Amino acid sequence: MRVLKLPSTTAAASAASDLVAEALQASGAPVLGLPTGRTAVPLYRALVRRHRAGRADFSRAATFNLDEFAGLDADHPGSYGAFMREHLFQHVNLAPGRTHLLRGSAKDWRMEIARFERRLAEAGGLDLAVVGIGLNGHLAFNEPAPQLVARTHRVRLAASTRRANASGFGNRWQDVPTHALSMGIGTILSARRVVLLATGPHKAAIVQRALSGPVTTRVPASLLQVHPDVVVVLDRAAAALLSGRGRPSASGPRPAGSRAD
Ligand code: GLP
Repeated sequence: MRVLKLPSTTAAASAASDLVAEALQASGAPVLGLPTGRTAVPLYRALVRRHRAGRADFSRAATFNLDEFAGLDADHPGSYGAFMREHLFQHVNLAPGRTHLLRGSAKDWRMEIARFERRLAEAGGLDLAVVGIGLNGHLAFNEPAPQLVARTHRVRLAASTRRANASGFGNRWQDVPTHALSMGIGTILSARRVVLLATGPHKAAIVQRALSGPVTTRVPASLLQVHPDVVVVLDRAAAALLSGRGRPSASGPRPAGSRAD
């Protein structure tokens, strides 16, 4: 696991965007797993800037979003589909048929998750999964539990997760859907590379547990410790409780194969 500590949120987002840009340059059709959430906003801003400067070409890429609220169609302003259009899709040259989202409003969610996994398998699996981390250690919507589900599935959201997502629902957490569809932990860990982006002081404690604590389904993000190619990109505040992992870097990610610890 490579841990990059950056001096600011903007620098962390820019370092993560370097890693996405690197994946976009790979030969063939790069397949990206993409997150939503406040942490992802500066990352998408950095990617849109790069794209406008001619330094990020999405024309060959396919994207798969990590999760979506159950019961919402992509026109709902609180949906992750709406979030992706606003922050990324409408600004870059992604082919419309290559942005894959779970359809939260699908009548038959079992068929929907099977369709999504099939599309992902047809695309060849994820080359790069970019993930955020929930305050309780969730990855996508894989909530802490005695057991986790490997593949895409329907989940009941923790109350704390609904509260954390209230901003998309007029700050009324009771309006946040009770369930979601989410890639499974195995789907995420099957990605050839995983980039975890976490910023802000409120993430420091869970980042420490996920990176330095035991590997446990009670902290789903801790399972990243067993993946062979994970890059953790943190700002100073989110890295505050880590000791001896990485050095502050103002220059973005090191070249592949170098170590930060
Ligand atoms: C949300 C999303 C996750 C996201 C996480 C962190 O609930 N389902 O995919 O990574 O929580 O969100 P934020 O970046 O807003 O803290």
